[in-house]
Amino acid sequence: MSGHVLVETKERVTRVELARLDKKNALTQEMYQALGDALAAAEADPQVRAVLVHGKPDCFCSGNDLKDFLERPPHADASPSWRFLRLIAGAAKPLVAAVGGPAVGIGTTMLLHCDLVYAAPNARFQLPFIPLGLVPEAASTLLLPLTAGYQRAAELLLLGQPFGTAKALAAGIVTEVIPEGELLEYARQAARALAALPPASVRLTKQLMKRRLAQAVAERIDEEGRAFRERLASPEAKEAMTAFFEKRKPDFSKFS
Ligand code: COA
Repeated sequence: MSGHVLVETKERVTRVELARLDKKNALTQEMYQALGDALAAAEADPQVRAVLVHGKPDCFCSGNDLKDFLERPPHADASPSWRFLRLIAGAAKPLVAAVGGPAVGIGTTMLLHCDLVYAAPNARFQLPFIPLGLVPEAASTLLLPLTAGYQRAAELLLLGQPFGTAKALAAGIVTEVIPEGELLEYARQAARALAALPPASVRLTKQLMKRRLAQAVAERIDEEGRAFRERLASPEAKEAMTAFFEKRKPDFSKFS
């Protein structure tokens, strides 16, 4: 288990906490591995009936670690990040998320695979794949147009700018906005409520709701993954990520 991902199972709920605050909970490959392990263990443990994912009140997740992307880009779809995506997309047990502060990149796209997403008013979502010279992942090119409608999805994915809870609600990314001080407890209660219900009924209902898209989601994760890894090696992506660490605006003027 990574020291930056804390996992605890209590009252039939597995709580997964992102805990790398000095880097705004940016996810390294080790953290994806730990997240994937936690999801796989929760799925396999008959005592577990729901999973709760959260960060700190002022920070959910700033997305993939950009230093990792520059120095150790994932080369294959067997990498811990793609394993995590497949696990979260295919989870049979219900997933609850509590989001406060930044939720960037996979910090937002993972929410499309959660069943209940509670966000505090300070939540700031962003899908900055294109500004980073990349393409979206986690089947968000399939799911977001469905939940948000094409134009809303196009605005969020093509421009890649930050947005607040009003847009996240309208786009179907968030279930409900909860005051900051109550967020984690509210989400925890929801996870406990799910855990108290007949588990087979919960699992079957989730499966029935997801079945129509399950195959298409799995295929899109792979398809996006291939394009994503190709774009990661592009000079545009290198320029965007280097600019982030140099705290300057990227210059895309020389690219065609
Ligand atoms: N990868 C690596 N490091 C990151 C990171 C990321 N995704 N996000 C933040 N950090 C680091 C910063 O480099 C900084 O490190 P330093 O203290 O050593 O300089 C630290 O975390 C704090 O980040 P900072 O940008 O100062 O915080 P902020 O509150 O001003 O902004 C964010 C928070 C999340 C809006 C901003 O950090 C951001 O946009 N991060 C990049 C998000 C991103 O592009 N993710 C990839 C998506 S595919």
